[in-house]
Amino acid sequence: MRDHVEPLRQPRVYLETYGCQMNIADSQTVTAVLRRAGYVSTDRAEDADVILLNTCAIREHAEERVLGRLSDLARLKNRRPELKLGLLGCMAQHNRAALLEQAPWVDVVAGPDAYRRLPEMLGGFDPAVDVRLDRAETYADISPAHEGGVRAYVTAMRGCDKFCAFCVVPYVRGRERSIPPADLLREIGALAERGAREVVLLGQTVNAYRYEATDFAALLRLVARVDGIERIRFTSPHPADMSDSLIDAMATEPKVQPYLHLPVQSGSGRVLAAMERGYTVDEYLALVERLRAAIPALALSTDIIVGFHGEEERDFEATLALMRAVQYDHAFTFKYSVREHTRAFKLGDTVSEEEKGRRIAAVIALQESISLERNRASIGRVYPVLVEGPARRGGGMLAGKTPQFKTAVFAAGEGVRPGDTIGVRVDSASAHTLVCSQAQP
Ligand code: 5AD
Ligand code: SF4
Repeated sequence: MRDHVEPLRQPRVYLETYGCQMNIADSQTVTAVLRRAGYVSTDRAEDADVILLNTCAIREHAEERVLGRLSDLARLKNRRPELKLGLLGCMAQHNRAALLEQAPWVDVVAGPDAYRRLPEMLGGFDPAVDVRLDRAETYADISPAHEGGVRAYVTAMRGCDKFCAFCVVPYVRGRERSIPPADLLREIGALAERGAREVVLLGQTVNAYRYEATDFAALLRLVARVDGIERIRFTSPHPADMSDSLIDAMATEPKVQPYLHLPVQSGSGRVLAAMERGYTVDEYLALVERLRAAIPALALSTDIIVGFHGEEERDFEATLALMRAVQYDHAFTFKYSVREHTRAFKLGDTVSEEEKGRRIAAVIALQESISLERNRASIGRVYPVLVEGPARRGGGMLAGKTPQFKTAVFAAGEGVRPGDTIGVRVDSASAHTLVCSQAQP
């Protein structure tokens, strides 16, 4: 019956998101849960009755940023004690005790499996903490509040069972669980009706997806049948779960785009073993070869950690050598950050901050030169680009992605709209952008 009572004034919620795509998707679920309970969204913290930070715990730096933001918000709360402050996500799960000590003015602490209960937690008078991990929680019945736009991110699976030695994710997001295909297809169909043309399936180890008989390759083929969806991507896959059937689905299903983010972390066999990644350097390189043989247009990106416990100069050199061998199109690079609860925590840090700085600079410089060379090799070629909207550089230019997920900017003719796919020819290239002109059909 409560649903029929008009609230006097709907409480306003301001939500700030840190970290990965999964968190952005989770924030859309949180928004949906709160809207159902009568809240409205605001994009101004000053106007909000409730301020929520959806946080990341992957590296210490991410946590420090949030702690800094929390002390800013303490001033707002001082002026308006009725304001509710909530901390959501991985850092809430990871660090709850320290958090409540360092930021006692926080009213609500909710881990990634507690979002369904947020309305009750925010409605109470006492501070509320809920960091129970729930291996059954998938939020499958909640349609996230998607922002619109040509690309939509859809969570296909949650959690991670891999337990890499450096990583806190399995502890803060809990065990792997997949969302039923029927729920995913319903959501993706609704997104297509609202104008989405590209869907990105998300999961911490998205290719470990399995729901009853449907594995990830089968899921890709089901999603490819959704009318209106023209492009399918996914992130992040784990190298150990790149099955032949998945490679085959990528190679033969035209909607699945030729781009793969394939985190390697290190090019040293010794370090990979210490990281407990579940593959050797040779296995990884053989996988890259199989992928490129099956999907000749494939672009590859990766994650690299420098300065993991025990990483010596020769291990680091091996990472550079692997990068030269693979020729990634892009790399995300990180300095190792010791995380409490992980298997590597007790091993500690053996590489100084300064040395990590030197190594990461060398990795970035090498990748910039490889990216530039690869992008320059595309000059003169024509690619289909899904138009997203105005380019950041302005000047009436539009931007979109090539199938390989490279940013293309271009001046387009009258009548070209976001959601259209047009042909563009690459005129010039930097390490990060292709400057193009519309190709005549
Ligand atoms: N320190 C540094 N980087 C990390 N990552 C995960 N855990 C850590 C850590 N403790 C990186 C990995 C992963 C990416 C999402 O974040 O490269 O693939
Ligand atoms: Fe972390 Fe490894 Fe799981 Fe990725 S696969 S989320 S790096 S534990």
